[in-house]
Amino acid sequence: MTTSQPTISTNQTPAGNAMIELTNVGKAYRTDTIETLALQKMNLTVPSGEFLSIMGPSGCGKSTLLNIMGLIDEPSEGTVSLAGQRIEGYNGNAIARFRNEQLGFIFQSFHLINDLSVVDNVELPLLYRRMSGSERKRLSLEALARVGLSNRATHFPNQLSGGQKQRVAIARAIVGKPNIILADEPTGNLDSHMGDEIMDILLKLNEELGTTIVMVTHDERMAKKTHRLVRLSDGERVS
Ligand SMILES: Nc1ncnc2c1ncn2[C@@H]1O[C@H](COP(=O)(O)OP(=O)(O)O)[C@@H](O)[C@H]1O
Ligand SMILES: [Mg+2]
Repeated sequence: MTTSQPTISTNQTPAGNAMIELTNVGKAYRTDTIETLALQKMNLTVPSGEFLSIMGPSGCGKSTLLNIMGLIDEPSEGTVSLAGQRIEGYNGNAIARFRNEQLGFIFQSFHLINDLSVVDNVELPLLYRRMSGSERKRLSLEALARVGLSNRATHFPNQLSGGQKQRVAIARAIVGKPNIILADEPTGNLDSHMGDEIMDILLKLNEELGTTIVMVTHDERMAKKTHRLVRLSDGERVS
């Protein structure tokens, strides 16, 4: 830990109360033969406590945008600030710790580990923290209670419905009490009833804990329930 470079500057205060701030962000994917401009000149400020949805046709750069917000992908140009801290490097322990503490991710296909019980899946982000096993277990059960799955803690993912799997994924995303949740089509694999359940949980998290949420969705109905909708087309904002 002592050898890692400081990769995040802490001398910058948030503009207003921006939780996420992208300035002139561009992302190009290069292969031998082709360059894809997945995002261009993206300016976007997400205030603390906002629930923002993002829509746009397939391939327009929604996941790229989310991955850049989540520090999974590095922009080709522009700057990213999260929680008032400008991100200046993408390698090393500092960024991994920052990501682990600030961000929770939810994916369309759940990304649970089938060999681990529900509660062990939820506990995963806490393994990177200094914390006793019993404290990890306590927080994991608390997160499962929040998504209404206390009675499934010792089940395994393949014993759950799709909606239940996504609730486990939400519990895993919130167990470390992140400021930001990034959700990439979280209801995309679910029928509309289960999708509504997931949406209700996200809305409640946003309201009760003030968690800032950015959600990619194909569903206008879901987007309407959020505070604001940003539409993308070919890597650019169109509204
Ligand atoms: N790792 C990658 N390498 C090359 N091209 C990519 C990569 N990831 C995404 N792209 C391209 O970038 C564009 C945006 O992709 P993506 O952000 O996944 O779109 P969306 O989530 O809106 O469907 C697409 O043209 C896609 O093919
Ligand atoms: Mg996508």
